[in-house]
Amino acid sequence: LASIEVDTSAVEEGQSITVQWRGKPVFIRNRTVAEIEEAQSVPLSDLPDPLARNANLPADAEATDANRGVVGKENWLVQVGICTHLGCVPIGDAGEYDGWFCPCHGSHYDTAGRIRKGPAPENLLIPPLEFVSDTTLRIG
Ligand code: FES
Repeated sequence: LASIEVDTSAVEEGQSITVQWRGKPVFIRNRTVAEIEEAQSVPLSDLPDPLARNANLPADAEATDANRGVVGKENWLVQVGICTHLGCVPIGDAGEYDGWFCPCHGSHYDTAGRIRKGPAPENLLIPPLEFVSDTTLRIG
């Protein structure tokens, strides 16, 4: 399917679900306030990849937390769950930056899905998406 619709109403704060989109896992996380604040507090100069990698924004958009979360619903973080190093699936709620950890070669992503340490060159990709109702998320 080119696009899918996901009911997010049962995903509580601090929880994640994984859905399949175009044969790829997509992580959908309802972030806590603490996770958002943690990501907001990181200077852009600390980020190995300074670009948002968000298909909904211009290619040169910066990797601020606001540019990673869903516009108007910043608690939602939606990302293709494929490590940008060599394509393993990272583990959630893990790693040194409280986000995702890829066990294949040790890449650590933060609470905004940005690469912080390890061999992965880019932040986790954010697919085309839109909330089409308060709780229905369309991906693709
Ligand atoms: Fe994730 Fe290599 S594939 S660190």
